[in-house]
Amino acid sequence: MKQVERTFIAVKPDGVERGLVGNIIRRFEHKGFKLIAMKMLNVTPEMAKAHYAEHVGKPFYERLINYIQAGPIVAMVWEGLDVIKGARVIMGSTNPNEAQVGTIRADFAQVMEYNVVHGSDSLESAEREISIYFKPEEICDKYENMSEILKERLG
Ligand code: RTP
Ligand code: MG
Repeated sequence: MKQVERTFIAVKPDGVERGLVGNIIRRFEHKGFKLIAMKMLNVTPEMAKAHYAEHVGKPFYERLINYIQAGPIVAMVWEGLDVIKGARVIMGSTNPNEAQVGTIRADFAQVMEYNVVHGSDSLESAEREISIYFKPEEICDKYENMSEILKERLG
């Protein structure tokens, strides 16, 4: 059974600098996933280390930590059925040259080190990553009010 999940998605500094934020958000919106938190920020060294703790010691670790701090990111939480896997399908494989055509990484990136987006890879990572970037009160998951108001005004 597919379940409603939350995932942490970020447009990485190269995606922000290249003006890809709108295009990337559009893909998740069109799929029907629900945007429930978003902010632009500069990742601190502490946040970078917490985010990528699983990659400590790997040959690309230092470059990864520098990359994520190289400029502002757009951090988001998306909610939806099976969204963790679904978002990673929309993003494409880590290596852009192996990513399926039509995915974000295939369309916008050439090399693994600068692959434009991040997405959580499991329920545990999603919870952990969301808590690095967002306080619970920054999650805006109540959308129904506007529909009720419009129903009253427009019938
Ligand atoms: P992400 O965490 O950013 O969504 O990417 P991912 O799950 O597809 O890939 P992961 O294995 O978690 O790697 C995190 C990021 O590290 C960089 N990387 N470089 N040069 C390399 O071999 C290499 N491998 C990974 C990429 O920026 C990757 O997105
Ligand atoms: Mg990962």
